[in-house]
Amino acid sequence: MERFLIKGGHRLEGEVSLDGAKNSALKVLIAATLADEKVKLYNMPTRMKDVQTKIEMLRNIGAKVTTDGDEVTINGSSINNSNLQSKRDAVPRTSLLLLGSLLGKFGEAKVPLPGGDDLGERKHNLHIYALKCLGAEVKETSDGYLEAKCASSRLSGAEIKLNFPSVGATENSIISSCLARGTTIIRNAAKEPEIVDLANLLNSMGAKIRGVGTNTIVITGVRKLRGTEFTIIPDRMQAGTYMVAAAITHGEFLIKNGRFDHLKSLVAKLREIGIEISHTSEGICVKGSNKFRSTDIITQVYPGFPTDMQPVATPLLSLANGRSTIKETVYKYRFNHVEELKKMGAKIKVVKDTAFVTGVKRLEGAKVMATDLRAGAALVIAGLAAHNRTEISNVYEIDRGYEQIEEKLRNLGADIERVTD
Ligand code: EPU
Repeated sequence: MERFLIKGGHRLEGEVSLDGAKNSALKVLIAATLADEKVKLYNMPTRMKDVQTKIEMLRNIGAKVTTDGDEVTINGSSINNSNLQSKRDAVPRTSLLLLGSLLGKFGEAKVPLPGGDDLGERKHNLHIYALKCLGAEVKETSDGYLEAKCASSRLSGAEIKLNFPSVGATENSIISSCLARGTTIIRNAAKEPEIVDLANLLNSMGAKIRGVGTNTIVITGVRKLRGTEFTIIPDRMQAGTYMVAAAITHGEFLIKNGRFDHLKSLVAKLREIGIEISHTSEGICVKGSNKFRSTDIITQVYPGFPTDMQPVATPLLSLANGRSTIKETVYKYRFNHVEELKKMGAKIKVVKDTAFVTGVKRLEGAKVMATDLRAGAALVIAGLAAHNRTEISNVYEIDRGYEQIEEKLRNLGADIERVTD
């Protein structure tokens, strides 16, 4: 088991660069297997645990995947439909997208149901609904699989009206329909930048997808997709995490290749809190302040305030003057980080979907546990500002979405080390 030991109180300065976006990488890997030719992907965060798990999963079903630094070459011509692992705990949520891609390619598919998750109940009804709209019969088997089949060898284009702009269901609709017969229209689609990235990759493979980044996406099915080369976008959640790290340590640094246009709602909130943020052609410059103002946050789908950033913003609000609120609307329950932050002296009360945060003078180092990826990032942020030593266990959760975060923070002047028991 690995832990992080952090001695807080160091002002962070310098520059940091971002990895490729995890939530883009996981989807483009799946989409790339729709072609029977080589797809070369650049800027891939191949040291992130979630990306490594996904690559293993694709190899298990016969895809040829090679990695070289941050380049991944993938060839889906030898995929077979039958070898997916069945240990439910190890099945990531993106296996739902694999169901869509295999169904789109072969007309039938069977994948294990995604395993447990620490963000509370995460449903897949919209994924099933979308695949059914495209003509598939989908059923859950008693041994924990999702099985889908379409009447002919190809899905049929259709109108898919999502009653919530789910990121995953939008991506599944895109992936499964690009090889379908006819036209598909996705209404109330999600607009996250990672979805735009996915569609850009598929279009460069020969798909015909229009309207991504708006709430109506139109896909004209094609018979075949071809090989291509593609560079994925930088990770906006990492950018946001480093922005808060600069802010909370009263530091000042450049987030190289950070995409300001992907982070507007977070930037607006950080500015309200008193953080100076500007952008240049090189990236995003952040300058912390000595005093933080309280504010109210409501998480929303893109371009609203990202749910993934609310845990990360919580330590900053814990040190702000006065009372802040954080209302979570995307997940039913996403306050795992609160109990851990309370061990560090934060004053937070959760009532239903809202955390009430009363600012304190300082956070104290403590022994805490990363209960999920962003909760873990929140603890790292808190540790950077806390008095004395913070010890974070379950570091593998943080590794799921940040490549060697400790090295990057050390380069900025943080006192953080990874220790192995
Ligand atoms: N939902 C349904 N039915 C569905 C699908 C989703 O009710 O069929 C609900 C979920 O239960 C959840 C909400 O809708 O409460 C949001 O789910 P969504 O489908 O939009 O999210 P996702 O595709 O499962 C992605 C990211 C998450 C991020 C969310 C929201 C990936 C791999 N994951 O999940 O990222 O929080 O979008 O922006 O892209 C993370 O990176 O730490 C992370 C959790």
